[in-house]
Amino acid sequence: MKNRIKIKLTLATIALAVAGSAMINACKVPEDIANKSGAQLWGENCNRCHNAPDPHTFSDDQWDAAVEHMHQKAILTDAEAKKIVEFLKSAN
Ligand code: HEC
Repeated sequence: MKNRIKIKLTLATIALAVAGSAMINACKVPEDIANKSGAQLWGENCNRCHNAPDPHTFSDDQWDAAVEHMHQKAILTDAEAKKIVEFLKSAN
């Protein structure tokens, strides 16, 4: 009887360890983002739902508003949105 409880506890510990390492891995994503350029992030994210808008389409202020809007819609991280808006403004 005692052994069974021990096995259950061991399994629970292993499950927690696996779940924990998965969570730590999820936190590694920002490192990948740090290595990507704004142009790359724009190409990867901004054509998921519509054609990626040409950087010349809007003024700097308009890009601020549009990317803030898409920041929420596209569920971008702050780092991604910042890089993308800098890239879009750099064309003006
Ligand atoms: C999850 C889907 C989705 C993604 C990803 C997405 N958009 Fe959009 N976008 C939309 C929708 C839907 C609209 C139409 C307006 C609305 O309903 O909000 C739109 C509209 C726009 C507009 C028109 C002006 C405005 O603010 O409504 C611009 C500019 C734009 N998107 C730029 C971008 C850029 C830049 C990116 C990349 C950072 C992006 N979008 C990523 C869904 C998306």
